[in-house]
Amino acid sequence: MKLAVSGKGGVGKSTVSGALALMLAEAGRRVLAIDADPDANLADSLGIPAAARERLVSIARQGELIEARTGARPGTYGQLFTLNPEVSDIADRFAYAWRNVNLIVMGEARKGGGGCMCPENALIQALIDNLVLDRDEDVVMDMEAGIEHLGRGTARGVDAMLVVCEPGQRSIDCGVKIAEMCADLGLERVAFLGNKSASDADDAFLRDALGARGLLGILRWSDALRDADRDGVSARDHLGAENEAVLRQVIGKMKWGIGK
Ligand SMILES: Nc1ncnc2c1ncn2[C@@H]1O[C@H](COP(=O)(O)OP(=O)(O)OP(=O)(O)O)[C@@H](O)[C@H]1O
Ligand SMILES: [Mg+2]
Repeated sequence: MKLAVSGKGGVGKSTVSGALALMLAEAGRRVLAIDADPDANLADSLGIPAAARERLVSIARQGELIEARTGARPGTYGQLFTLNPEVSDIADRFAYAWRNVNLIVMGEARKGGGGCMCPENALIQALIDNLVLDRDEDVVMDMEAGIEHLGRGTARGVDAMLVVCEPGQRSIDCGVKIAEMCADLGLERVAFLGNKSASDADDAFLRDALGARGLLGILRWSDALRDADRDGVSARDHLGAENEAVLRQVIGKMKWGIGK
C-alpha cells in the first residue's frame, strides 16, 4: 500500500505519518517513509534523535547526485536536463534506517524563475514516481500542507490519500478541496481522519462534516502528543492507548497487505 497523508497546515500530517510508519514496521511490514514536505519534519515525528536528524541530507541537497543523474547542476536554470533520470538505486543508498522504517527526505528545491522544473525537482519527482510505482514496500508519504502540491502531481501514483482534519471549518474546507482535486486527478481512494478532538462536540462536528465522505476514525487531543513534538521524541510512543487503537483501525480499514 502506498499512502499519502495530506491536509491543512498543522492538522497533524507528520504526527500521523510517523506513527503509522512505525506501527506498520512493528507489524513486520517493509516501510518506506517519504518526507515530501519541503518544510520537512517527518524525522522529528519518527523520533530520530536530534544529532542524527542534523546529519540527514535531503535529496534536494545532494548536488553531485542531482548533477550526475539529470545532467545539470542544481540551482541552474535554462540548462537542458533529463526529465527521466535513473533513480532506482537512490532509496537504498540514501534512506536513513530507523526502527525498521527507511526514511527518505526529499527537501526543498531552490526557488527559480518561472516554473519549478529545475534539476532537483525533476530528480525528486522521478524518485517519488519510482518509489510509489515500482517498489514493493509500503509507503507512507508526508505531504506539504494544503492543495498546491496536488496540482504539481507530487502524489500521483499513490494507492490512497489520507486527509487529516481537525475540528474546525477551515481544516474541513481544505480537506474537502483536497478530496475534490484527488477525484479530478483520478485518485479514487480518499479517506479522512479526524485529529485533535477534545470533546463530544468536536467528534460530532467531524462526523457531521466528514461522515459521508469516508471518515476512518477520530484521534483525540493529547497533551502527550503535543509534548512529544516539544521534546523531540516519537509520536508513536506517545499516542496513548485510545489513539493507538484508532490508528490500528485506520490500518485495518486501509487494507494494508491487500493489493500492493
Ligand atoms: N492529537 C493531537 N493532540 C495534541 N497535539 C497534537 C495532536 N496531533 C498533532 N499534534 C501537535 O500539533 C502540532 C502539529 O502537528 P504536525 O506537525 O504533525 O502537523 P502537520 O500537519 O504535519 O503540520 P505542517 O502543516 O506544518 O506540516 C504538533 O505540535 C503536534 O505535536
Ligand atoms: Mg508536517
